Amino acid sequence: MTELAAAWATLMTAAAGANGRRILDLFAAEPGRLGTLAVEAAGLRLDLSKQPWSQGDFASALAVARAAGVETARDRMAEFEVVNLSEARPAGHMALRAQGGSDDIAQMVETARARMATFADTVRAQGKYDTVVHIGIGGSDLGPRVVWEALRPLAPTITVRFVANVDPAELAQALTGLDPARTLVVVVSKTFTTQETLTNARAARDWLRAALGPSGDAQLVAVTAAPTVAAEFGVPTDQVFAFWDWVGGRYSLWSAVGLSCAIALGWEVFEGLLAGACDMDQHFCSAELAQNLPVRLALAHIFNRDGMDRPLRAVIPYAQRLRLFPAFLQQLEMESNGKQVTQDGQAVTAPTAAAVFGDAGTNGQHAFFQALHQGTDVIPVDFIAVARPREGDPAAHTKLLANVIAQAEALMVGKVDAAAPHRNFPGDRPSSFILMDRLTPQTLGALIALYEHKVFVEGVIWGINSFDQWGVELGKTLAGTVLTELEGGAPQGHDPSTTDLITRLKTPD
Ligand code: F6P
Repeated sequence: MTELAAAWATLMTAAAGANGRRILDLFAAEPGRLGTLAVEAAGLRLDLSKQPWSQGDFASALAVARAAGVETARDRMAEFEVVNLSEARPAGHMALRAQGGSDDIAQMVETARARMATFADTVRAQGKYDTVVHIGIGGSDLGPRVVWEALRPLAPTITVRFVANVDPAELAQALTGLDPARTLVVVVSKTFTTQETLTNARAARDWLRAALGPSGDAQLVAVTAAPTVAAEFGVPTDQVFAFWDWVGGRYSLWSAVGLSCAIALGWEVFEGLLAGACDMDQHFCSAELAQNLPVRLALAHIFNRDGMDRPLRAVIPYAQRLRLFPAFLQQLEMESNGKQVTQDGQAVTAPTAAAVFGDAGTNGQHAFFQALHQGTDVIPVDFIAVARPREGDPAAHTKLLANVIAQAEALMVGKVDAAAPHRNFPGDRPSSFILMDRLTPQTLGALIALYEHKVFVEGVIWGINSFDQWGVELGKTLAGTVLTELEGGAPQGHDPSTTDLITRLKTPD
């Protein structure tokens, strides 16, 4: 048996022992529990004491991380080695937010950053635009969307509207009420081939041209790893911002993919975001595993997912400004780690990514929390809270904090009511608690980087490639075939249900 297999077996046995043991009882049994299981780094406090593991179980989980070679894998990623084997690429997102390096990569990044900063500053100083329409999908959308929503001023001088869906309703809504002369269209696509993005980009280009003539193209900007294709599309070459194939789509926020945010929020804010992520990188790369926030968070999730067979996880930010964070994590976690084969093509031996869902607290409390408290499945929760409000009535913010604290307590402690079973709360429902003092560019950057790295650690332990996404390809290919048929092309031969749908929805001749 390998060292990893032995450590894994020990962890699974430990997790089996956690069934039927109450988390609350562990506080009495383990006087140092809170001190051991809550740590702080890069402005984030991570409390994992309401997880079902004992301190001994946590030690077993750490043994798995060591045996899986998390430290070596982390160092290889940081040193720009090829860690994405199926695409033969490094995963270089840490280089995008590194400060002050001198190697070739650092210089490339610095040059790109300086260009971005100059462009963002110039657009802001010109005063010509009141809106940026950001067109992109998946990793070319979710990160910038989260950042804008989290950090946007109450009365911005430049607003960002996002368009991802190929459903024409989204673009129509985004363009409604805009003055084309005062609108900058930023098209973000790593490949510049994505059907949704190119459809929306063409429509937006036509909208500019219809109002401004051919000079409308001067208001197009592109962010892509295929700059030649973007230039052919009509984007002025000095407004094409390139990034590199070693930046994964869902890890690309830190590159020029964040340009819309840099323009609308200002370069200083964007730099703050990079600095916060860099703080988390430095912590991830230097802290011993036992004190390492991303490692700890990954291990807690693995304990629930694999050890206790819990395939779901809820993420609830008690911060309206972070309401899109669960959607961002869905892509980050499920596209990265929703895999069934290892890096070398063998079937995985343990379940991988949990399905992630969530909404802002307190809204979620009035929607799906019933199932969290009394449903038949135990669904672990990540709570995210911000100690001090950015705006609004401090008394309302205190109520928000009371709710997040109370929910985490209620889930763990429960309430016995033998006389009225419908009022019985089983409790013993685990949660992690991430607390930051304020929501700033720095803490937001650190929060996103924390989850990026925890996904990486999980991937290393499961032996999978967290940086490819082959599972999205089949649907894309079939959509092309079906589109041809919907537009009048010859039937290609499908199952009866699919053929029926195509017949019903075919564009009338
Ligand atoms: O959903 C699949 C995906 O390939 C994501 O990984 C990526 O972020 C998204 O599509 C958009 O791709 P692109 O930036 O190339 O348009």
